[in-house]
Parts: sequence; C-alpha cells; structure tokens
Amino acid sequence: MKSGYTYIILLMSFMAVEGITQIMQAQITKDIPLIPAPVSMVKSAETFTLPAKTVIGYSHKDLAFSAEYLKDFYTFLTSKRVQSKYYKKERAKGTIAFVIDPAIQQDEGYSLKIDKKHIVITGKSPQGVFYGVQSLSQILFAQKRAGDLRTLPCLEITDYPRFLWRGLHLDVSRHFFDKEFVKKYIDILALHKLNTFHWHLVDDQGWRIEIKKYPRLTEVGAWRVDHEGLPWNERPVQQPGERATYGGFYTQEEIKDIVAYAAQRFITVVPEIEMPAHVSSAIAAHPEYSCRQVPIGVPPGGVWPITDIYCAGNDSTFLFLEDILSEVMELFPSKYIHIGGDEADKTEWRRCPKCQKRIKDEQLMDENELQSYFIRRIDKFLTEKGRILIGWDEILEGGLAENATVMSWRGTEGGIAAAGMHHNAVMTPVTHCYFDYYQSLDRHIEPLAIGGFISLEKTYSYEPVPEVLTGEEAKHILGAQGNLWTEYMLSGNHVEYMALPRAIALAEVVWTPATGKDYAGFLTRLENQLDLLTSKDIHYYVPSVEGLPDTTHFKDTIRVELVNPYPFGEIKYTTDGSEPTATSPIYRNPFYLNRDTVVKAALFLKNGCSGRVKTGIYRKI
Ligand code: ACM
Ligand code: ZN
Repeated sequence: MKSGYTYIILLMSFMAVEGITQIMQAQITKDIPLIPAPVSMVKSAETFTLPAKTVIGYSHKDLAFSAEYLKDFYTFLTSKRVQSKYYKKERAKGTIAFVIDPAIQQDEGYSLKIDKKHIVITGKSPQGVFYGVQSLSQILFAQKRAGDLRTLPCLEITDYPRFLWRGLHLDVSRHFFDKEFVKKYIDILALHKLNTFHWHLVDDQGWRIEIKKYPRLTEVGAWRVDHEGLPWNERPVQQPGERATYGGFYTQEEIKDIVAYAAQRFITVVPEIEMPAHVSSAIAAHPEYSCRQVPIGVPPGGVWPITDIYCAGNDSTFLFLEDILSEVMELFPSKYIHIGGDEADKTEWRRCPKCQKRIKDEQLMDENELQSYFIRRIDKFLTEKGRILIGWDEILEGGLAENATVMSWRGTEGGIAAAGMHHNAVMTPVTHCYFDYYQSLDRHIEPLAIGGFISLEKTYSYEPVPEVLTGEEAKHILGAQGNLWTEYMLSGNHVEYMALPRAIALAEVVWTPATGKDYAGFLTRLENQLDLLTSKDIHYYVPSVEGLPDTTHFKDTIRVELVNPYPFGEIKYTTDGSEPTATSPIYRNPFYLNRDTVVKAALFLKNGCSGRVKTGIYRKI
C-alpha cells in the first residue's frame, strides 16, 4: 500500500437537508480522484485487499449488465478474469456485491462501501449501481496507477446527481460518424455519468436517419458533392450532372442497436429532427414540402441565411413530418423528441401565398407567430403520442407551445424565460457549452475550429441555474448539455479532442453539488481520468504552455517564465528552433536570454500525450 494514508476522516461540513438527511461533504483527495466529485466521501486508513479469486455477486437480474461491465473493466486492468454470480436473495454475497435498496432517496443515487471484508455497491435502481461501478472503476484505475491495484482504501461514498439532464450532443449531419464511433461516444458519456445523448440527425448538409416511408430522404438527402478540400463556407453548390458521393446514414437496424447500447448504459438517446429550417437535405429529397418547390442539391458546406425551409402553409408538410416523427418514436423510447426550431430565415414564408394564407386564416400576427403555429402543431402531435417536444430557444418567438421544453443556447435568456413561464429548460449556452469553439487562445496552433473561445475553466465555472430565478422557477432547469457541432470535425478523434476534457468539466457541473465544486481540486483529479481515457484510446486536448509571447523584442536580457496550466505533466522545451520531444530538457525554472532565440515548448503528460508546440520568438534590439 502506498504510504501517506493516515487515519483521517475528512468531513468538511455537515448540511441539513429538510431535516431528514445529513449530507457529509468530504474533501476529495488526490488519492481518490473521482470525477465527477461525489456528494460525500469518508475514507479511513484501513484497507481491503481484493482476493485472488474475486467474485461479483448481484441480487437482481437487471444488475447483470453492471456486473459484466465491471468484469470487463477488471480484466482490462489486470488481464485476469473475475466471476460474477446472480443471487436470488436480497443481499448478494461476493467480494463485490451489488444490491438494490429502494430506501435510497434519489432515483439515480448509490452508495459505495469498501470495508475490510468486501465492497458493496447499493443503488436505488440498477442505474445507481451502474454509477457506483463507474466510481469503483476510477478507484481501481487510480490504485493501478499507484502501483497496487488489489489494495483498496476503506471508504464510504454516498452519491447522486444534482441534475436530471446531463447531456452531450453530437452533430452527425455536417460530418457523418459511423455506428462504431457513436458507440464509443456513448461510452465516453457513460464514463462521466452523463445520461442524455442528444443525437443531431438532421441538418442542411445531410439527413442521417432511414425513414421507411420516405426512402429518398436518405437516398438523396444523405449525400452531397464532395468538396471536403475547400473551406466550409466556400463550397460551390451541386452542379447539374455532378454526383453526390459524400455522406452516409444510419439504417433503422443500426439505430435500434445504438439505442439499446445506450440504454444498457442508462443513457437516453434524444433524437433531433430539425424543422422548419436546417432541412436543405430533406428539401433536396422532397422539394414539394418547401415554399419554392424547386429542386436543390444537398449543400456541401455552409448555408447562411437558411431560407430553404419547410412550407408552413401546406398541410402535406405536416403529414410528412408526422409520418417521419411516427417512425422516429418507434425507434426512440425517449420521452423527449427534439424538433430543432433554430435559425429559420422567414424570407420564403413572406413570399409564399400558402404561408401568407395560413397567417391570415389562423389570425397570426406575423411570420414569427407562423413559426409558433408550426411548432404548436408538432407539439400537439407529440403530446398526443405521450412525448414531450424540446426545441432550441427560438421556439419561444411568437409564443411557446403548450407542453414544450426549451433548450437555451443563445445565452441563458431562453431558459430564464421558459422557467418563468413554468416550462422546463435545458441549459447549453454558447458562452460555456459549445465545444466546437476553440479551447485555447493559441488558435494558430490548434486545428481549425468555428471560432470563439471556451476554456476548460470557463466550462467548469458554469452554473446552470441562473441567479434571477426564484426557487420554484429553478426547479424547471432540468440540467445542462455540451454541444458538438461538426462543421470542422471530420474524424472521431477530432470530435473527442474537442469534447474532452471540457465534457469532463461539464459532467462535474451537472453532477456535483454546487458547494462541492473546486477547479483546483478538479485539475488534480483530472490526471487519473485522462490516463483512463488514454488507456481506452480516447483522445483529448492537452493545453499549450503559457508564458511564451509570439514575438518579443528586448534589450540586454529577457526573463522567460513558462507556465503549465495543469498541476501535472512536464514542460519540455528547446532553444535551438527544433521541436521539443519527450526527451527534450524539462523546464524547471525561469531562465534568461541574451541573444536572438526561438523558444519552443510543449506540455508532456506522463501517459505519453502532449500538447501542441508553442513557439516564442525573442529578438534582441
Ligand atoms: C444552434 O447552435 N443553432 C442551436
Ligand atoms: Zn410556404
């Protein structure tokens, strides 16, 4: 056992919650690097040694998947096999026992107890047990890194999430990602106790879901001319005779497989079927549902403003959409169905006689109210089917549909307005949750991104409940979500690089009590999680070194001080213009230059990953 475990019970504070329970808030130590940080953890100096023959026992058939998951993880860590066994009794036996206890208050809650004899994970539901397994996996991984996987500290964790909606989104329209990558992405959610995968299946540049009644949606809508070599916003539209060869889609069988894969990991897949805009791909397949009704190709790149939208004056548009949504609901058990609703340019609605007639017949004020009419009609349809419509915050314009939930993205105002009207909201503001934005100020050394800048710390600092809300209104904030728009992400590796580690920070935002958040502590715990990701071949951004100006002029001498934004890893640097490598000198202290010098530096993690090389040019004048 590693030295340094002294008998300390780290109780930071006791909080009374409605006089019933007491939550112990423990300081999360570097020794137990859990992410997201649990609600409470108590640790003792005692230890438990996993026996050579470890058995996972579970007391409920629905826990079989968690048992398999932990078995696989243990084998992955040790190359050793573990047995699992189903006990019909209430209390499972075994080295590691999984138990269901309905007395636990929080639906997704669990406890993880390691005592001198065994390990017990207790969940209110199988979902809670799965989260307990994630925590135990992180602990096992940390012990392995520390050199002794089998000796575990005795501890007791009581844990449950702060928010119901802990989401990560993926745009598969701008670039298509195959089924295997989507599963890997779901694995990433599971590793961080995220529970909602928002699957953006429809956008201008590709329709990605097979709809049996309308095969042209994928025969035509899933394919675009290949201009991947040109900048996103400078791609010519499809010319007559040009073949559309770039794209892809998911068959309904593949979708069922992915939804089932996610469900095993307690992740709900919320499909997004955009309307009335961001649907050029659908209109390419079915121009009859647009106002202009003229053939268009699937755009191979950026479209702005988005004027080719569904005609709101044509009843057949709604029948078409209802048919599509009916097939979607067959595939996705999710309570929420996302219908987009963002960024519709109403130019064609202003020109279209059918749309204008609709405005007149329905006594609508303007095109904003026509959008509201559109969404209300879909809301009614989904509500009748027992589902809940969720849409981007533009669905507030012209009046919010009766049962709608709002996804607040242009800021927090949409969420505030929705909550004020007693509607639910999910927060995903561009200021903190857009993981297609740059994560470094050193843009020129980063892969091309859409713009903006959202640092890891900025995401971590996000507080999903806006201060202006009353206690009652705050209950309408379901949670938060990170969005991955993929105009500039062509590969799964690149998606992972943009998502991580910001999604890890967001996972703590949506899980850990606000009082338990601590950025410095998070950074200390991050190293274990990044090593875990590396061991699973998952990619992530490593920050560049701070303190190097692009070009600096100096007289006599100049002091160079490099800064590692992380409390782990080492800065390696060169002063001869060559690229730093793992064997370059380690930066330990500030140094002085007295002549023209090119300093190059990068952060190297112990696991072999490194950040991008930053170059500082020093010129003596
Ligand atoms: C969005 O980013 N257009 C929702
Ligand atoms: Zn129209």
